[in-house]
Amino acid sequence: KSGVFTYDPGFMSTASCESKITYIDGGKGILLYRGYPIDQLADQCDFMEVSYLLLNGELPNAAQKTEFVDKINNHTMVHEQLATFFRGFRRDAHPMAIMVGVVGALSAFYHDSLDINNPEHRERSATRLIAKVPTIAAMCYRYSMGHPFVYPRNEMSYAENFLHQMFSMPSHDDKPDPVLVKAMDRIFTLHADHEQNCSTSTVRLAGSSGANPFACIAAGIASLWGPAHGGANEACLRMLNEIGDVSRIPEFISKAKDKSDPFRLMGFGHRVYKNFDPRAKVMRESAHEVLSATGKADDPILKVAMELEKIALEDPYFVEKKLYPNVDFYSGIILQAIGIPTNMFTVIFALARTVGWVAQWSEMIAEPTQKIGRPRQLYTGESERPVKPIEQR
Ligand code: SDX
Repeated sequence: KSGVFTYDPGFMSTASCESKITYIDGGKGILLYRGYPIDQLADQCDFMEVSYLLLNGELPNAAQKTEFVDKINNHTMVHEQLATFFRGFRRDAHPMAIMVGVVGALSAFYHDSLDINNPEHRERSATRLIAKVPTIAAMCYRYSMGHPFVYPRNEMSYAENFLHQMFSMPSHDDKPDPVLVKAMDRIFTLHADHEQNCSTSTVRLAGSSGANPFACIAAGIASLWGPAHGGANEACLRMLNEIGDVSRIPEFISKAKDKSDPFRLMGFGHRVYKNFDPRAKVMRESAHEVLSATGKADDPILKVAMELEKIALEDPYFVEKKLYPNVDFYSGIILQAIGIPTNMFTVIFALARTVGWVAQWSEMIAEPTQKIGRPRQLYTGESERPVKPIEQR
């Protein structure tokens, strides 16, 4: 028995750690952040409230929220010399390559946030990461477009500030569309944390060595990049665009079922969920809202996604293997409708997941008994043998 949930002994032996942050029931399609259902949080809270919840264990009251938002806002700018890092990249560098480099480089600037044994340092690094990752993410996009970097604005909400830094121009001062701001904020909430997934486990393992938090989050970003993990949203939208029309769906479904073909249906399947990913359900509703609000309700891409989901959910192969749409299936449609380019989709995932990584890292570091992670292996190589001189090999 662990807390309020009981696990079978077999599962208990495989668990890599204990955590109070996020609970997933893969069979029932349940996702709770600190006990709150994800759909209720997405519907009733904004990303700053959810971030406070993940970090502190409780939803903030109005005064706590104001103090938290002000603290984050006071750290949204980055050191001016950090901007010179971008000049070293080609304009067509994948933004995730830049994110790994620049977020890791934060450890070269904030020496008052590196001592993991100092609670004040830990608090400062957490604040700086949550505040500065959106600024760095927007800088990646601006650099790729040859546009000037845009400074954050403290009067804006977190999601509004990000879209402002992504798309505003010195030549005209139009504010981000509130419909798109709400959709962006909801995307952040839905991606904020997800228990011990691949990238969070990477952050914990890196952190267990005592590496500084900026380096650990950079390791998480690198791990998230893979198409089997956070890179799936970019791969899924490319797949939907390649399918192009509902008439071509059967061709892709049979490719996904062909064991000799490495192709997998992007946005489908999950290591843990053997039921609908609860985030995908919220995402699907948001996709309809955003597309109709932006006059793209008849966008063929949505028709392809809806039809693909319908066919796959009825196909015996997917039913038998319990493959359902996951968080990445609809997110790309929303991000594209907001105007985010495909190669920035995983950057958005990393931006949102930063608070989850920081919360998980903080939980681990605060655990007095935590030791360095050291996975073991089953050795299947050669038995011991003598070295022969090169002329005898
Ligand atoms: C994320 O862990 C997390 O929490 C991750 C995440 C988070 O928030 O951090 O939720 C975010 O990474 C979501 C997943 C995004 N990835 C994709 O959408 C890529 C496409 N999905 C697959 O690559 C796959 O489903 C994985 C990688 C997600 C899971 O792969 P597994 O572990 O092999 O899944 P499984 O064991 O449940 O597979 C069962 C069977 C296998 O076939 P058999 O070996 O039984 O013959 O189903 C097959 C798989 O080959 N299968 C698929 C498939 N996913 C699994 N076949 C076709 N298309 C797919 N998408």
